[in-house]
Amino acid sequence: SQHLFICLILWHFSASSSETCVSSPAQRVGVCNTSGSGTDLPGQAGDVADTHGPLPKNTTLFMGFAFMLTASSEIDRLTNKSASDDEDDYVETGPYNKAYTESQLQAGGGFVLADFNEEQCKAAYQSLLIADQHCRTRKYLLCLASGVPSVSHIWVRDCCKENKLLNYRNYLLPAGAGPDEAIVEWHPRCSPFKALRVLLVFEKPVELWAQLITMGGGSSVRHFQTDKDGSDIPAGKYDLVVTDSACPPLVEKNVTSQEVPLVSPEWIIQSVIRGERMGFHSKPQYRHDYSSSSSS
Ligand SMILES: *[C@@H]1O[C@H](CO)[C@@H](O)[C@H](O)[C@H]1NC(C)=O
Ligand SMILES: *[C@@H]1O[C@H](CO)[C@@H](O)[C@H](O)[C@H]1NC(C)=O
Ligand SMILES: *[C@@H]1O[C@H](CO)[C@@H](O)[C@H](O)[C@H]1NC(C)=O
Ligand SMILES: *[C@@H]1O[C@H](CO)[C@@H](O)[C@H](O)[C@H]1NC(C)=O
Repeated sequence: SQHLFICLILWHFSASSSETCVSSPAQRVGVCNTSGSGTDLPGQAGDVADTHGPLPKNTTLFMGFAFMLTASSEIDRLTNKSASDDEDDYVETGPYNKAYTESQLQAGGGFVLADFNEEQCKAAYQSLLIADQHCRTRKYLLCLASGVPSVSHIWVRDCCKENKLLNYRNYLLPAGAGPDEAIVEWHPRCSPFKALRVLLVFEKPVELWAQLITMGGGSSVRHFQTDKDGSDIPAGKYDLVVTDSACPPLVEKNVTSQEVPLVSPEWIIQSVIRGERMGFHSKPQYRHDYSSSSSS
């Protein structure tokens, strides 16, 4: 009955879920949509068991694990190159059929979460995010921020082929591409936003930024809607403003006069990838009005 209870909770959380991705710095920073099925790596439909391995014979192979799955977008794949050509940094990859990989995990007794859920991740013996490479999907960033390891789908393939639980640590994916496009390895988290009081200034509330800041130790997150009248930001209440080029000039002026720094969401993403607080103005991409029109 406890299992049923958990299922009901999960069903509740998954009912409203949809996957979004966050574009790379080369693109305009913002939230965009991605479709899981459109992002599968090429592979012939008929040979899915050849490339992905069989469904596991052992129905308790993945018992006790909670899994989330995500897939890289076209933009993510562009960032999958190393500045140093160091092939050792990469886990081997292959065709990725997310739906099939999910069916393998379920056939092996794994519990698949439709969306990121912090309580469920903590309740499981071990939670893992499965992906084809590092990416900037919502799930990937949330898992990074909460310390859930990201593991290559090749781990699932190899476990199913050998009908044996292999060590996922040998299949860890990197945290992502850092500000200089160098690959940042996955490592346990500290709290990059510890004790920060953050004001988000966007036209629409951006749940993802608020979640990432909270999970990273932020002490408060408020949202200020730009279409509302007024530019008065109470003095001494915020340590940081996260906004974009749509930030109203009067708000910017008021915040600047209080000597509160303004940064772009890219600063949040990089702090999550690096697992440490980046300097507010250490990169041009962290400027709230940064535009990459010249570089892309
Ligand atoms: C994202 O999806 C929503 C709802 O389907 C749609 O209104 C919006 O235009 C999409 N955004 C992009 C960037 O495709
Ligand atoms: C199935 O896999 C689990 C987890 O690795 C293992 O403990 C168990 O012995 C396996 N059962 C069989 C029948 O191989
Ligand atoms: C990422 O790059 C590595 C090394 O070049 C390559 O082996 C791998 O297939 C790439 N991954 C994807 C998903 O394209
Ligand atoms: C900013 O807003 C605060 C709070 O209302 C106000 O006290 C302050 O005068 C404003 N500063 C500027 C430069 O508008």
